[in-house]
Amino acid sequence: MQTKTYNWGILGAGKIAKKFSKDLLLVPDANLYAVASRSLDKAQQFAENLNIEVSYGSYLELVEDEKVDIIYIATPHVFHFEHSMLCLQHKKPVLCEKPLGMNKQQVQTMITQAQNENVFLMEALWTQFLPHFQFVLELRDSKKYGELLGLEADFGFDAPFDAEKRIYNKKLGGGSLMDVGIYPVFLALTLLGKPQKIEATAKIGKTGVDENCKIAFFYANDVKANLYSAIDETTPTTATLRFEEAVVVLNSRFHEPSSITIQNDGKEETIEFPVTTNGYSFEAAHVQSMLANGNTESDKMTYTKSLDLIELLDAIRKKVGLVY
Ligand SMILES: NC(=O)c1ccc[n+]([C@@H]2O[C@H](COP(=O)([O-])OP(=O)(O)OC[C@H]3O[C@@H](n4cnc5c(N)ncnc54)[C@H](OP(=O)(O)O)[C@@H]3O)[C@@H](O)[C@H]2O)c1
Repeated sequence: MQTKTYNWGILGAGKIAKKFSKDLLLVPDANLYAVASRSLDKAQQFAENLNIEVSYGSYLELVEDEKVDIIYIATPHVFHFEHSMLCLQHKKPVLCEKPLGMNKQQVQTMITQAQNENVFLMEALWTQFLPHFQFVLELRDSKKYGELLGLEADFGFDAPFDAEKRIYNKKLGGGSLMDVGIYPVFLALTLLGKPQKIEATAKIGKTGVDENCKIAFFYANDVKANLYSAIDETTPTTATLRFEEAVVVLNSRFHEPSSITIQNDGKEETIEFPVTTNGYSFEAAHVQSMLANGNTESDKMTYTKSLDLIELLDAIRKKVGLVY
């Protein structure tokens, strides 16, 4: 049987777009076909570097291109809603960077639009698809080391202060929670579900965004998740899972391709999960397999999961008084 080649369009020619695009070049049946930027010069330069066939100086031209099969949205968080809606209204399947929207209302509207248009939409939470993360999910499901009693996870990096750049700029949705805190929150949600109670504190900096955020999720039977994010300090960026009979560590940086260390019975074992790409290839291949099956929703990064995730981020933001 002949397999289909998927023509990918890249919307927004920024930093992550470049990394993702490099990975696409290594994904079977993926064709890095077009890139759109607000500036044609920038699109052409991006296209030249990555050998991309078509460059556009507006996002509209990309969504109107009939040859485009799937669009990857790589703009700042605050534009995910507008750009996803633009694609969906033009019946283009969407893989949109995280967070899918700025609040639950936006995410719900995007999902409703995808459902109404019968078009695929997925949040690009790449960790969900990584081999070491699959291993952890299987470990938890197998109960090999008993129940999961709690976890700690952090993600902090020391971003040089620049009030205009995405990370610190409130108008672009800056701050630690929405940018990197989403990963520890995603981990807790995936492994423990929605908490019964949330506590959170944040350091709000001079641009009005959270420069760090400390979160505690409380569950039944004294199960707890302690989470932390920061853009003002580099932290280990590991995740430690405490099972009844073992401690399992997702080594640094836990959200990207990484290794797993298991401590039990006084022994320690580290398992490597070597990959040959930046790690974005796994979500891209998954999207293609969903499209091949005619799915409009991922069976792994589901609509419910994106809704639960943004609901938690909304609740944390409410606790720390962070309003965009
Ligand atoms: N999955 C991951 O590992 C990962 C890593 C980093 C970031 N991300 C996510 O990817 C998204 C983009 O992050 P990034 O670091 O790539 O950002 P970035 O380098 O600042 O790029 C964002 C791009 O968005 C476009 N854009 C459209 N309107 C804009 C505006 N008003 N101001 C600035 N840029 C605008 C620009 O492209 P044009 O000028 O070409 O139009 C810009 O290059 C964020 O939502 C972030 O959460 C994900």
